[in-house]
Amino acid sequence: MKVDTKCIHSGEPEPRIHGAAVMPIFQTATFAFTGAEVGYDGVRYTRCNNNPSQEVVAAKLAALEGTEAALVLGSGMSAIASTLLTLLKAGDHMLIQRAAYGGTYDLVHHQLQDLGISATMIDIAAAADSWQPLLQPNTKVIYVEAISNPLMEVPDLPAVVAFAKRYKLTSVIDATFATPINLQPALAPGFDVVIHSATKFLNGHSDLIAGVVAGSAEMVNQIKSKANHLGGSLDPHGAFLLHRGVKTLALRVERQNANALMLAAALEQHPQVAAVFYPGLRSAPRYELVRELFINGGAGGMLAFEPVGGMEAAETVLKNLKLGMVAPSLGGVETLVTRPSTTTHVGLTREQREAIGIGEGLIRVAVGIEDGQDLVDDFMQALDAAAAAAAAAKPAAT
Ligand SMILES: Cc1ncc(COP(=O)(O)O)c(C=O)c1O
Repeated sequence: MKVDTKCIHSGEPEPRIHGAAVMPIFQTATFAFTGAEVGYDGVRYTRCNNNPSQEVVAAKLAALEGTEAALVLGSGMSAIASTLLTLLKAGDHMLIQRAAYGGTYDLVHHQLQDLGISATMIDIAAAADSWQPLLQPNTKVIYVEAISNPLMEVPDLPAVVAFAKRYKLTSVIDATFATPINLQPALAPGFDVVIHSATKFLNGHSDLIAGVVAGSAEMVNQIKSKANHLGGSLDPHGAFLLHRGVKTLALRVERQNANALMLAAALEQHPQVAAVFYPGLRSAPRYELVRELFINGGAGGMLAFEPVGGMEAAETVLKNLKLGMVAPSLGGVETLVTRPSTTTHVGLTREQREAIGIGEGLIRVAVGIEDGQDLVDDFMQALDAAAAAAAAAKPAAT
């Protein structure tokens, strides 16, 4: 089955429950006990991630990732925290890419550090050889994101997996920005654990917080056991919403790939744009890798650009957009825009942001499924407005 077909048919109960075409919602905290002989795993209790509403969507996601198993949780952060707390204990060390999502950065560099787990940042733009001196005898995990936020850098993912194998590390990837439509990192290049904030593209409608962990049955069971004790399970109605969202994932992501490429190409041509960051552009640093590794070269629905004129110009662009809503988050059907220096990366100082290439004027765009030309027209008129405002502000030459 192709991935589009799996979105609809994989993981569904056979026979259908009471013949229902759509998986019913098991809105219950507990289930009648079936007997002592089934042991702990047989006790159905929704916090223990064994409610059928959770299991069905998890099975569909495992099919999409090509993994033996998957687990759905109450948020992307729950998926990340449960995974890292399973793989690491006090005294252990991990490697993590420098520009990871802010919530992950805080978890790793503050909360995990408080528990005696240390981390060293690696530069994903540099060759894997440069990470070797950062290894410690207690290094257990290497953690990267498929496409970084907000500069949309793609690590050399095969090199990350090869490095992990060579030094016996568990390789973990947050593939939220890529989605299993564009990349199935457990299949190629072979990551051990795949994580998603299902809040984003997997659900796709900006109306749910959820997370996913996928990997071997043994790995997912270990993480599930930890998650069962930490709490943070996905409630049955949330599981239903995620299940419904995933059915249209392939259609949405195909449109988002196309819209983002079209918008990125148009932005590159606009004189009011200083730089565009999108992994599907020929000018992107790992364009060839994306073409080879990402399915059909689909580079996702996230891009960023820097208008000429910095923060003031960026604010004028945001004010003039009619379709792009100014809000953090991403992966929904509607286009969202944000200035990372005021939202996702507000926790860093201006100097820290500049050191990793995040200018005050950088605009991140989470492209929706609107008509591509409508989006291009909207961004072009907003950039024209910024250009006009800049020209009007210039003192007339005498
Ligand atoms: C790449 C990435 N990973 C993880 C998360 C955390 O997900 P959640 O908000 O569902 O906990 C986010 C949230 O923005 C994200 O962008």
